[in-house]
Amino acid sequence: MQQMNIEQIKDIVLEAGTYLKNREAATHITVKGASDYVTEVDKSVQSFIQKALQERYPEVQFLGEEKNNDEIDFSGRVWVLDPVDGTTNLIHDYKRSSISLALMENGRTILGIVYQPYTEEMFYAEKGKGAFLNGRQIHVSRAQTMNECMFAFGTAPYEKEKYGEACFQKIYRVFMDSQDIRRSGSAAIDMAETAAGRIDGFFEPKLSIWDYAAGRLLVSEAGGRATDYEGKELGNAMKSSVVCGNPVIHELLVRKYLK
Ligand code: IPD
Ligand code: CA
Ligand code: CA
Repeated sequence: MQQMNIEQIKDIVLEAGTYLKNREAATHITVKGASDYVTEVDKSVQSFIQKALQERYPEVQFLGEEKNNDEIDFSGRVWVLDPVDGTTNLIHDYKRSSISLALMENGRTILGIVYQPYTEEMFYAEKGKGAFLNGRQIHVSRAQTMNECMFAFGTAPYEKEKYGEACFQKIYRVFMDSQDIRRSGSAAIDMAETAAGRIDGFFEPKLSIWDYAAGRLLVSEAGGRATDYEGKELGNAMKSSVVCGNPVIHELLVRKYLK
């Protein structure tokens, strides 16, 4: 099987970052669903990365948020791309959005990249080789108790009726027992920052595979755990709840706050 050149793949994502910062393209907005939008930026980032990867790795399948993915066979190798994680932030020029790219094989992520162009921070990991931020190795936090923790959470904003109330009840309980909580608008960055130990954990009741595929490898290669709210492996679930943190905090969140 063809070897992956991580430096080349990082360069492709880095170059795609210039498309993400195109403010004119961000004003061309189409409605996908309730509170769910796609811009010309999402489309241009995806088409640039898809083309570049397919030229270099023609045998690897491509799954992307802005395309139909019915034909994907997860027993083979698959690129999994969220071209803009944080599109609502992008529309508001809130400057907290990322490109999330993973390579999956047999329901596991073997390579993951989360790039935030505004801060020029590239988080990346290869299975078994550790997690890194701009060349420096990163680790999850050492927190052992809730009152040492600052968390980030997501709100599953595209399904407010279904998840809103229960989601905010859980957030309330976590908030009362921790130092404080944050809502950033990019699940991929939240997972990457959990891997870097900047926050102690992240949780959201429903994410898609392109939101978590890169982030879960960053977290596990940084010494943490990422699962669904029941503590089960995420595998290749197209949709799932997601919780991550260092092993102690992850276990606490699952057992006491999220289940
Ligand atoms: C969304 C962001 C957001 C999270 C949503 C995701 P998108 O991704 O990660 O933080 O709350 O659940 O869908 O739609 O901007 O790619
Ligand atoms: Ca996303
Ligand atoms: Ca997206």
